Formats: sequence, C-alpha cells, structure tokens
Amino acid sequence: MQKVTIVAIGAGNRMNAYAEYIRMHPEEVELVAVVDPNEARRQHYATSFKLLPARCFASWEDFLSGPKVADAVFLCTPDHLHYRPAMMALEKGYHILLEKPIAQSWQQCLDIVRKARENNCIVGVCHVLRYHPYFRKIREVIDSGKLGEMITLNHQEEVGIERMTHAFVRGLWRREEETNPMILSKACHDLDLLVWLTGKKCREVSSFGSLKWFKESNAPAGSTARCTDGCLVEKTCPYSAIHLYYRQKRWLRHFDLPEEGDADEVILKELREGPYGRCVYRCDNDVVDHQVVSMRMENDVTVNFSMDAFTREGARKTHIMFSGGELSGNEKSLTIKYFQPGLTDEVYDFTDSSGECNYHGGADLYIVGDFIRSIREKNPDALLTNIETSLESHRIAFEIEKKRLQSH
Ligand SMILES: NC(=O)c1ccc[n+]([C@@H]2O[C@H](COP(=O)([O-])OP(=O)(O)OC[C@H]3O[C@@H](n4cnc5c(N)ncnc54)[C@H](O)[C@@H]3O)[C@@H](O)[C@H]2O)c1
Repeated sequence: MQKVTIVAIGAGNRMNAYAEYIRMHPEEVELVAVVDPNEARRQHYATSFKLLPARCFASWEDFLSGPKVADAVFLCTPDHLHYRPAMMALEKGYHILLEKPIAQSWQQCLDIVRKARENNCIVGVCHVLRYHPYFRKIREVIDSGKLGEMITLNHQEEVGIERMTHAFVRGLWRREEETNPMILSKACHDLDLLVWLTGKKCREVSSFGSLKWFKESNAPAGSTARCTDGCLVEKTCPYSAIHLYYRQKRWLRHFDLPEEGDADEVILKELREGPYGRCVYRCDNDVVDHQVVSMRMENDVTVNFSMDAFTREGARKTHIMFSGGELSGNEKSLTIKYFQPGLTDEVYDFTDSSGECNYHGGADLYIVGDFIRSIREKNPDALLTNIETSLESHRIAFEIEKKRLQSH
C-alpha cells in the first residue's frame, strides 16, 4: 500500500492526538516534517518520528515557501493562523486536515473552499464529534425513523468552570480578536452537530449573552493580580490557579512539562510569571461566559442551544423530541423513550467513551483514518466532515454572533 505522507503544522495539544494514529498505523501513513516555533515541541516530533533537521521548520512561511514534500498537512495552529497557511498550502496542492474553526470570518471560509476546489484538494475539518460513538448512536436512532418526526431539540454545552477559566479566561481562547468569539471557537462543534443531527439548514437565529462574571468589578476584596501574590481568598476561591494546576495537577496540557525532572518547579514558574497564574477577575479576556441561541431550521424544526461556563463538570446534554418519543443523553448515557404503550425504554451506556483523555472516545483517531482513506480514494465524501459539509455550522456561528452583538 502506498503510504500517505503528512506534515504536522502546529505540534501542540491537538496534533499530539492525531499523531497517535500515525504511530499506530505506520503501514498507512508517515509523518515526514514538522513545523512549530516551539523548539521543545519540534524536537519531540523530530525524535519521535526520526525527522532530519532539514525537515523541521520554525514557521509555516518557511515550510510552505519550499518545495512540496508530502500529500497533506495537518494544520493544528492557533485559530488566527488557519487562514493564511491553509490558503498557501492549498496553492501548493496539499490536502489539509484543518483544525476547527475553519477561519476567522465567513469570507475567509469561502476563500478556503474556493481554493480547495480550484486545486482539487480535500479539506477535512476537525469536527471530531461526528465520529464520537455517542453522537453516532444518536444519528443512527434518528435515521432509523423509530421515534417518528423530529419536532424540537434542546442542546446544552456545559463548558465547566475548569475549562472556562483555563481556556477562555486565562488561556489561548480568551480574546475574540486574537482567536474568535466563543460561539465559533468552542461551539462550532455543537452547531455542526445540530446541523448534522437535524439534517436541516438553519433559516433564522436569535442570541443573547455576555461576559458577566470574569471581570475586575467582581474581584473579591483581598484578591491579588496573581493567585501566588499572597491572595487572601485563594484558599476558598473556586477558580484558584494554585488549586487547579498545582494541587490537583489538572489542565496542564499547555504547560510544556519536562518528560523527566521537577514538574512542580515548571508549574510554579508558570503560576508566578505566565498567563495561567493570573487572577480570573484580572485577565484581559473578553469572550462571553454565557450565551443562549434559538434556531429555526428548515421544516420548522426548532432548536434551543446554550453555552454555559458555570457548571462543575463539562458535558454536552441533548434532548430531542419527536412525534413518537424522545431521546436524551449527556455523552455518558443515552435514553430513548417511546410514547406508544407497550414499547420499552432503551438505555445505552457510553461511560467508556466519555471524556477527552481517550481521544474524544476514539473520534480523534477515526477522523484521521477517514482523512487518509479519502486521500487514497480521492474521495472527499469518505469524510464525514469535509469542508463543504462543515461550512453551514460556520455560517450559522457568524450569524449568531451578529445577532448577539445587535441585542446589546
Ligand atoms: N477539534 C477539537 O476538538 C479541538 C479541541 C481544542 C482545540 N482545537 C483547535 O485546534 C487548534 C490548536 O489548538 P491546540 O489546543 O492544539 O493549541 P496548542 O497551543 O497546544 O497548539 C498549537 C501549536 O501551534 C504552534 N504554532 C504557533 N504559531 C505557529 C506558527 N507560526 N507556525 C507553526 N506552528 C505554530 C504552537 O507553538 C503550538 O505548538 C486551535 O485552532 C483550536 O481551536 C480543536
């Protein structure tokens, strides 16, 4: 079998998940170059995939200005670095596995689609949840028709306070201009699922939401700029960075911990000097911490969707109501109830597939497998999430954000 060759652009958290597939299937796919300004990450890939120094690049401009060296690139850079490298990679004829969100504006999304068509390239968007066993089961139940006609749907993205403070208050996705509004950076997954599950296009939206809590006016007396600055309320603060990162050792994926040696020292240095040690009330964040959306889909199916930071755990909860029954679940379990007398409820357990530590229930690995297959078969439809299919979620996200801003 001819191997499909890949270049990793952005060797961070997401690429690490996809790289696992490459390690597991050396007969199918080979990683031939890495691009990342972070030397430690570059070096890690060089060692792990036996790459020569000439195949390790510190910037995507350097890499893409050279000759074409592979079939495809995995573009896993931060949100604001999707558009330009994607356009240049397509110009060179690379297929792309592109991290979501596609780009920062609707026009940029359309440009990428056009460029992909012009150059006959396949672009897969990492809406990995379509590959998650739990969401696939929901889709299978809907497609079976056994619950009748879909009438309405409630979907809640419980972001959870740990993810919220880590990513959207202190972390990489805290500022709209540098990344995206949260409806795109976080919820394009949900919007994509809603389009996929209803099987409908969206006709109309309304939305409300704001940044209500994580701002300086809510800082408690005695709190300081950093949790390590002698904050008087640190011990009881639900958002303490010391508690999350140092005592619990959670959410350390962006800390570049050493493989050997003293991880505590690196964590404490980050808390004293880096973005993740800042008081949640004194960051430069501006993305929302709560947002509600109503959608009217084709065929008058209605959708209520909310994105909520203030939950202890993170989960997606979905309740779909049909003419003949209802379906509800929280990623860990799924219950189907029929209205017809005599029919028994069905319950499915997905506890083993929930959480991100197992690659989104294997979805991060399945999507890579399908992407490789779609390249080999020259068939974009082998992918559940090719860019043409993914566009609708992004169109809706930009429309929702416009409505939210108009409502202020
Ligand atoms: N599909 C999903 O479920 C999912 C989940 C989380 C994040 N994401 C998306 O994936 C992307 C990456 O997120 P992440 O969590 O891996 O972030 P990350 O910070 O861990 O990784 C990004 C990498 O890009 C590198 N980089 C920065 N500038 C670069 C440049 N000029 N050229 C090449 N590399 C560069 C960084 O050094 C870093 O190693 C983001 O767009 C994010 O929104 C997707």
